Parts: sequence; C-alpha cells; structure tokens
Amino acid sequence: MRIGILTSGGDCAGLNAVILAVVRRAVLGYGWDVVGIRQGTHGLMQDPPQAIDLNDYVNNDGMLRLGGTILGTVNKGDPFHYPMPDGSFADRSAEVIAGYHKLGLDALIGVGGDGSMAILHRLAEMGGINLVGIPKTIDNDLALTEYSVGFTTAVNVAVEALDRLQPTAASHDRIMILEVMGRDAGHIALFAGVAGGADAILIPEMDYDLDALTEHCLNIRKRGRNHALVIVAEAVKRDDGAAVTQGDDGQKVRYGGIGHWLADELGARTGWETRVTVLGHVQRGGIPSPRDRVIASAFGVHAVDLIAQKSFDRVVAWSKRKVIDVAMADVIVGPRLVDTNGTMVSTAKGLGAYIGHPPKTARTAKTV
Ligand code: F6P
Repeated sequence: MRIGILTSGGDCAGLNAVILAVVRRAVLGYGWDVVGIRQGTHGLMQDPPQAIDLNDYVNNDGMLRLGGTILGTVNKGDPFHYPMPDGSFADRSAEVIAGYHKLGLDALIGVGGDGSMAILHRLAEMGGINLVGIPKTIDNDLALTEYSVGFTTAVNVAVEALDRLQPTAASHDRIMILEVMGRDAGHIALFAGVAGGADAILIPEMDYDLDALTEHCLNIRKRGRNHALVIVAEAVKRDDGAAVTQGDDGQKVRYGGIGHWLADELGARTGWETRVTVLGHVQRGGIPSPRDRVIASAFGVHAVDLIAQKSFDRVVAWSKRKVIDVAMADVIVGPRLVDTNGTMVSTAKGLGAYIGHPPKTARTAKTV
C-alpha cells in the first residue's frame, strides 16, 4: 500500500505531529509507504505532482514538537475555482485528481478545516480518491469533533497574552483589549476569556450592547478595581452591524480591526485609558501544546487504521474522551458555532463576565 498525506488551509500547531503519527502507524504498523504532498492540492495540480517520500521521517521525533507543517499548505486556490494569472478563474479539479493517480496512491489523508474538507470530498467523489479526513484548525469550528488539532495551542497563546496584559493593565490603570482569531466562531475568545479571567468576552455568536458593556466596565471600577481585560473575536461586528475587515483576497474576507474600533468607543465612553493587542498569527505558530500532540497522535493513528479497514469518506473526531470517526458529509456542513446556551457561555456569565445576549434571530449553531 502507498498512501498520501496533505495539509490544507491555514496552518496550526500540531500538523507535524499528525504527519509523524501517520508515518509511524503506516510504516511500523502496516509496512506501507507514505508520500507527503506539498502545498495541499497545489502539489497534486503540478506535473509531475510535488511530493516527498516520508518513510524516513519515522525516526524524526522532533516532528512532535515542531510548529507549522513540513509539507506546506495553502488557504486559497480552490481547484474548482482557481485564480489564474490573467485574473480569470478556472476549474483545475481534473489536474488534482490526475496528480493523485500519477503518484500511484491507494488512499489519501487530508488534514484540513471544513473548507478544505469540502473541496477534498468533492474531488474524492469525482476522481475515485480513497479519502480520510483529519480535522485541524485553531478556530475549532468543525462539526462533530470536540477538538480539532491546533485549537488548544491557540487558546494557550491567548491565555498567556491575557496573563501578560493583566499586570500591565493594573500598573497603568487601563482597559486592555485583546483581539483574537477564530473566523466566524468565538471558541478561541470564549475559552481564552474564561481561562484568562477576561471581564468581557465578545464573540460573533452573541450580540452586545455598548451601553451595557460601558456600565459593566464602570461597575468594575466602582467595585475598586483599577483595570479591566476585554477579549474580542475578530469577526465581532461594530454596533451598527458592519464587519471590520482588512479587505479580501478575492475568495474570502480577512477579518481584523474590531479591537481598535472597540477601544475608541470604550475609551471615550468610560474615560478610561484603553490599549489594544491584536494577537494574529502567533496563535497559529509555535510548539504544539501537549493536548494538541495527543489529539494529533490519536487522529493520525486512527486515520491510518481506517484506511487499513478500507473505511473511506470518513473524518476522525474527538468525542467524549475517545477518538471516533464520522461521515465526511456530516462534517462539511459549515462552521460549528459556539452554543449560546452551552456550558462555556453560562460559565462566563456565572463568573460575572460581560458576554452580551443571544441574537434575536438565532444563528445556526451546530453543537458537538
Ligand atoms: O482559519 C484559521 C485562521 O487563522 C483564522 O482564524 C483567521 O481568520 C485566518 O485563518 C487568517 O488567515 P490568513 O493566514 O490568510 O491571514
């Protein structure tokens, strides 16, 4: 047997730990060959396909702790709607499918988020690719898995930022605003906000009221505290409903900037000096947390076992302390949002943090 693995979408900590687990299980457990495809589907689109032999990595224990992905990845360039140099778009799916067959692969492991997974699923159906998916994204917004690879490392980074912001906030009598990633889901902001003791947690799934947030901050002051910590997810909108973005790349918008808008508003309303930290890509890089390494390892081993059982079109998932697998069609259903009635929201509220209120028109929240 000869299997391929590719990483697709935004990178995150723990991808190399996934690759190592796949190589170890495939080589040591089954005696197979493993091929690593470079730059996701881009690598398959090339002629010859861009790939490397991964069998020798079986001894590379440094991979467990190495950030990024040794294979490279892309988070744009949908092969069904591929941007061409002349500005037009072309369907290059047939080239990707041809690449898989040229490499003589018996199966492919795709490590990606829901967008990548949807593309790979479509390619697999069209091109007879035996596909197994492994969920990764710092956003943790894939359906049917409690954790995706990369999430806890990103949360750890955001919590460390709050730990560092709190003493300087206290020294300078300030409100500190921390803007975190997560795209349309608020999982990073919510987990980090609770773990890092944020006084206000703003997530896209909940509506907020600037007057109520202002009063909340002023009450903190009345209670005798000279500083406050606010965490805001990048996709939170301004109070007039406008998204704050840094433009788009033709395929998707890039969020960023809500922290600065909020600082201006909150500073003016409270009269409190306010500063902003935008955490950005430091949430994606660096050494994976032990939990991400555990999830990555369990996912990698299970994905190879699924191939051995000829169980394709499945995605591995973490559920109730176990690794399981689910139908890929049930995973590619759009982002899993924060459950506005769930434990994390009620915990934040119970701790006295401001988190706003569920929107009048409920957004579609898929729960684990
Ligand atoms: O999906 C992962 C993610 O890090 C999001 O949280 C963020 O909005 C986006 O990717 C950033 O993408 P890029 O690396 O293209 O700036």
